[in-house]
Amino acid sequence: MQVAGKVVVVTGGANGIGKALCEEFHRAGAAKVVVVDLDETGARAVARTVDGAAFPCDVGRESDIRHVIEETERQFGPIALFCSNAGIGGGFDPLSVNAGGSSDEPWAKSWAIHVMAHVYAARHLIPRMKARGGGYFLNTISAAGLLSQVGSPAYSTTKHAAVGFAENLAISHRDDGIKVSILCPQGVDTNMLRSIPKGPQSGDGDLTPEQVAKDALAGIEQETFLILPHPQVLGYMRKKTENYDRWIAGMARIQAKMRESYRT
Ligand SMILES: NC(=O)c1ccc[n+]([C@@H]2O[C@H](COP(=O)([O-])OP(=O)(O)OC[C@H]3O[C@@H](n4cnc5c(N)ncnc54)[C@H](O)[C@@H]3O)[C@@H](O)[C@H]2O)c1
Repeated sequence: MQVAGKVVVVTGGANGIGKALCEEFHRAGAAKVVVVDLDETGARAVARTVDGAAFPCDVGRESDIRHVIEETERQFGPIALFCSNAGIGGGFDPLSVNAGGSSDEPWAKSWAIHVMAHVYAARHLIPRMKARGGGYFLNTISAAGLLSQVGSPAYSTTKHAAVGFAENLAISHRDDGIKVSILCPQGVDTNMLRSIPKGPQSGDGDLTPEQVAKDALAGIEQETFLILPHPQVLGYMRKKTENYDRWIAGMARIQAKMRESYRT
């Protein structure tokens, strides 16, 4: 899909990858870039630089997502591309003694933001997109949704669920002309990455959000389901599916090394 002349919504657009996506879509000639974020001041600041619009929104609340969709279409016309990008890095504990040990709170929050936000966008946009013969969803997930994020069970699990939902969305609505891409980088130099200590997610080098946004746009133009800004991830996926037990043993070694480095 070409973004030029289209209405695009980006959640988590006030910072990091989302901000870079807004800027990239604006450069590509989007008719209107709608910047959606909990951080209203940040969203307005980005909107100003891309001649866009800003909406405050908690993506974990269905009524907020519905409002963004209804108001965007009322004010600017049909949404061609909806990017569910907002995310949180909560629950990282390299010294955890029990993968299921944390309270429900980080699990519920990650589930709402990483999974239900994508479901709500589909729930309220699919009928509109079907009626007009197509549309596009870009869901920022993570290499953690394909592999794992050691020390972060809630992040890994909800990002895996997000991959599962995106696959189902793409399968269910292929014949309706609706396309889906998932954006799955490893480390990207943003506030989120800076808020957690350096770890294996940076093993292949951290990318800039701008580079990731360029890769996302190229993937949308080519209509590729899986967008991997770090191409190494494809090799890791192959290793995982080739021999799951060997892969788990390798990941356990990475986790042990990480624990060791945090203890010292
Ligand atoms: N940075 C990385 O290394 C990395 C790697 C892989 C995937 N990701 C994913 O990329 C996406 C963007 O992350 P980032 O690195 O740019 O982080 P970031 O912290 O720089 O930006 C995230 C944005 O999402 C917003 N946000 C958080 N919760 C929200 C909510 N409930 N409703 C609306 N907005 C909300 C924040 O206010 C912020 O503006 C996330 O889904 C993240 O999981 C990041």
